Amino acid sequence: MTVSRFEEQVLRAVHGRHPLIYLHTPEEDRVLDCLKPLVGRCFPGGSMTAWSCIRGFTPAAEGVDTRDPVAALRHLVDHPRQGFTVMKDLSSFMGDPQVVRGLREAYFSFCRDYKSAVVIVSPVAVLPESLEKEMCYIELDVPSSDEVLARVTAIEGRFPGAALSDEVRTHVILALRGLTLMEVDHIMHRVFSTGTAKGNVLDDIFAEKETVAKNAKFLEFIPLKVDTRAVGGLENVKDWAEKRKGLFTEEAIKAGLPIPKGILVMGISGCGKSLLAKAIAGLWKVPLFRLNMSLIFSNLYGSPEASFHRALRTIEAVAPVVLWIDEMEASLSTPKEAGTSQSMVFSAFLTWMQEKPPLVFVAATANRIEMLPAEIVRKGRFDQVFFCDLPNEEERQNIINIHLARNGADPKDFNAKFLAYCTKEWSGAEIEQAIISARVEARQAGRTMTTDDISQQSYKLVPLSKTMAEQVKAIREWAFNRATPATGKR
Ligand SMILES: Nc1ncnc2c1ncn2[C@@H]1O[C@H](COP(=O)(O)OP(=O)(O)OP(=O)(O)O)[C@@H](O)[C@H]1O
Ligand SMILES: [Mg+2]
Repeated sequence: MTVSRFEEQVLRAVHGRHPLIYLHTPEEDRVLDCLKPLVGRCFPGGSMTAWSCIRGFTPAAEGVDTRDPVAALRHLVDHPRQGFTVMKDLSSFMGDPQVVRGLREAYFSFCRDYKSAVVIVSPVAVLPESLEKEMCYIELDVPSSDEVLARVTAIEGRFPGAALSDEVRTHVILALRGLTLMEVDHIMHRVFSTGTAKGNVLDDIFAEKETVAKNAKFLEFIPLKVDTRAVGGLENVKDWAEKRKGLFTEEAIKAGLPIPKGILVMGISGCGKSLLAKAIAGLWKVPLFRLNMSLIFSNLYGSPEASFHRALRTIEAVAPVVLWIDEMEASLSTPKEAGTSQSMVFSAFLTWMQEKPPLVFVAATANRIEMLPAEIVRKGRFDQVFFCDLPNEEERQNIINIHLARNGADPKDFNAKFLAYCTKEWSGAEIEQAIISARVEARQAGRTMTTDDISQQSYKLVPLSKTMAEQVKAIREWAFNRATPATGKR
C-alpha cells in the first residue's frame, strides 16, 4: 500500500513537534485506524488514547471522571499520556474559555517535552481564533483507492455469492472515490444486500455523490441518460472521447499517462454542444455535474469568490467527475475591471484549470466565443477547442435517424436522404423540433408519422441560420483558424 497523504500529513505535524493537531473530517474510525500504525513511529513506546464526552478517556483514568472536557484536559496536562490522544467532538466545547485555556496549557506543556499529541477530530472546522497559532490544522483527504478497495473487499466477503466481476469492481472503485469510508460502507452494504450488485451499481453510487454535491448548492447532478450514440455526426469529438475512454482512470494516472483535462466546445446554437458534454460523461461512465455560475454570482450563499472556491473543492472531492460549465462566456467573459468579484472568480478559474486534480474533466461550452478571453482559449488550458458547425448532409441524416428512433418511429420507414435535403442549414435542435411537431400533428390526425409530415414542417420553420445569418457567419469566421472542427468531414 502506498504511503497515504494522511500519513504524510500526520508525520509532518509530528516532525514539526506540534502538540495540538486539528483533523477536519467526519471519519473518526478512519482516523483511529490510520493513527494506530503511526503511534509507535511517532512516539516510541507510546499508545493510543481516545476521549469523548460520553466515555471520558479510553483506557480510563483511574479514580477520575474525565467526561467533562475541562477535567479531561487538566488530567492530560498533569498526567501526560505518551502517544496520540484522539479527542472526539472537542470542537463543540471550544466556545468555553476553560477549554481554550486547557488546550493552551497542553500545548506549552507538551512542547517542552514532546512525547504526546492531542488530535482533535471534528466534522466541522471551528478553530477558536485565539488558538490558531498553536493548532496544526489538517483537512483529511478522501480515502485512497487502496483504502476503498480494501473496504469493498471486506464487505463483499460478508455476502457470499455476491461477488462483483473484475470489470465492475474496477468501475465501482473508481466511482466510489471521493466518498468517505462510512459512505462506502452504506452504499456497498445496500448494493450487496439488495442484489443491485447484479444491476446497475454505478447508478447507486452516483446517487450518493449527488447528495454530497447538493450540499454545495452550486452543482447540479445530471443523470447519465445518453452516450455518444445519441449524437449525430460530430465525429471528431466522438472519436476524441472514444480514444480517451480508458485514460480517465486511476490506472492511467498510475501509469503516468496523459489524463484528459477538458474540452471547450463552441459553436452555433442548437448544434449539440450541451449534448456532447452529457454524451462524453455517459461514454466514460463518470458522473456529470453542471456548475451553476449564476447561483455563484447571486451572493445567496456568500461572496462569489468564496462560493466558487467551495464549488471547486466539492467537485474535487467527488472526482472522478465531468464538470460541465455551460455557456461559459456568460460568467467567465473578459473582466472589465480588476478587483471585482468577476475578475477574481475568473483568475481563480484560470489557476484552477492549471492545477486541478487529474480526475476532474471540464466540459465547457460557449456560443459567443468572441467574449471569451484569449487566456481561456489558449492552448494548454483545454486539451482541445472544438467548433460545432451546422450539420452537413450526412450528419443531418444521422440526426434524423436518431430522433426518429427516439420518437418511437422506425427509421427504415422514412426517407432520411430527402429529409436531410429539406433541412439544409438546419441545426440538430431544429431537426429534432420538426420531428416532434410532425409526430404531434400526425397523432392529432389519427395517423402514424410519415416522411411527408416532417418535410411539411421544413416549410413552416425558418432556421436560425436564416434569421441570424450575420451572427452565424461571424461565429464561423472566428472559429476558422482557432478551433478544431467537431465534424470529421465537410
Ligand atoms: N448532433 C446532434 N445529434 C443529435 N441530436 C442533436 C444534435 N445536435 C442537437 N441535437 C438535439 O438538439 C438538442 C439541443 O442541442 P444542444 O442543447 O446540445 O445544443 P447547444 O449547441 O448546446 O445549443 P445552445 O447553444 O442553444 O445551448 C439536443 O438535446 C438534441 O436533442
Ligand atoms: Mg447548450
